[in-house]
Amino acid sequence: MMLKKTYQFSSARVAYYFDGDFTRPGKLVDKAHTVVVTDENVFQAFPGKFKGYNTIVLKAGEQHKVQDTVNYIVDQLIGFRADRKTVLIGVGGGVVTDITGYAAAVYMRGIRVAFVPTTILAMVDAAIGGKNGIDVGVYKNLVGTIRQPEFLLYDYSFLKKLPQDQWVNGFAEIIKHSCIKDAAMFRELEGNKLSYFRKNKSALAALIRKNASIKSAVVQKDEFETGERRLLNFGHTLGHAIENMYALGHGQAISIGMAAACRISAQLTGFKDTAKVVKVLNQYELPTEMAFDKQQAMTILKMDKKRERTTMNYVLLEKIGKGVVKQLPITELEELI
Ligand SMILES: NC(=O)c1ccc[n+]([C@@H]2O[C@H](COP(=O)([O-])OP(=O)(O)OC[C@H]3O[C@@H](n4cnc5c(N)ncnc54)[C@H](O)[C@@H]3O)[C@@H](O)[C@H]2O)c1
Repeated sequence: MMLKKTYQFSSARVAYYFDGDFTRPGKLVDKAHTVVVTDENVFQAFPGKFKGYNTIVLKAGEQHKVQDTVNYIVDQLIGFRADRKTVLIGVGGGVVTDITGYAAAVYMRGIRVAFVPTTILAMVDAAIGGKNGIDVGVYKNLVGTIRQPEFLLYDYSFLKKLPQDQWVNGFAEIIKHSCIKDAAMFRELEGNKLSYFRKNKSALAALIRKNASIKSAVVQKDEFETGERRLLNFGHTLGHAIENMYALGHGQAISIGMAAACRISAQLTGFKDTAKVVKVLNQYELPTEMAFDKQQAMTILKMDKKRERTTMNYVLLEKIGKGVVKQLPITELEELI
């Protein structure tokens, strides 16, 4: 039996099927009217999973989350004679779910879409909340829509071949969720290591469900990002800037960003647990310090989508489990960083 949970968003109800099996989706999927989008890594690692599906295989990697790839998907959809009854299913990490969501939103002005997230990051974050899109030049996620998928199917067997660095990436977002929303989960993370969750299937499944529900609840409260949803940017403002500057992994960059946000919180909210957060990040193999070019980071920060003229929405912690969004004057931020 698949464990099912549904979340109501403003325009749609989304069903989450935990402990599912993509090879046997039952009534959930009519293979004749389905086109699957995946990337070459996932396809090569699990060829058997795609038997009987019309499948579009994309090149892997963020550099392919661009309009050319959308055009390729559209050409393939025409080839499959996809119409308004077709359901597009994105099977992969966040790159695949983002671009599939976007292609589905624009093909024939919008066809049905669903996701089978195959990275930890996509399971707890990218596949949830309806944001989709593509990068344009140096601008990440510049073009896209907010549009909920019909369902998410969690098939944990995909994680068998997920590389270690991708586990670490995903756990950065899990630690983020615990910092902004869930002190009990933070304690659970404190008491364990990545290897524990990699070995212990039921603990991992419970952790993924918990994180999916945290992200979903935040999005439900603020689907179009005017308040609460900004909390999810904890560690991401500075993180994104240095991610681009030094070609860091996303998890590594936001980990450094979270540690920095804790230190800023210590000065502005009286946050007392920076050392604890740093310890947990390190425990999950994430870096928390780095010498970076502050001037260049500030220049990039000033271009950030989270900027509002002379101030910037910065996510701080009041305590573990309680994130807050503060509007900081850019000049003050410059001094704090
Ligand atoms: N829409 C949102 O709300 C949202 C939120 C967070 C991140 N994102 C986006 O998500 C993307 C990052 O997602 P990601 O970290 O999953 O990256 P990704 O999709 O690039 O996947 C990481 C790597 O793992 C491979 N892979 C995926 N599943 C695998 C598996 N089961 N076994 C072996 N290899 C596998 C992929 O081919 C890729 O090489 C970014 O583009 C980011 O902008 C979107």
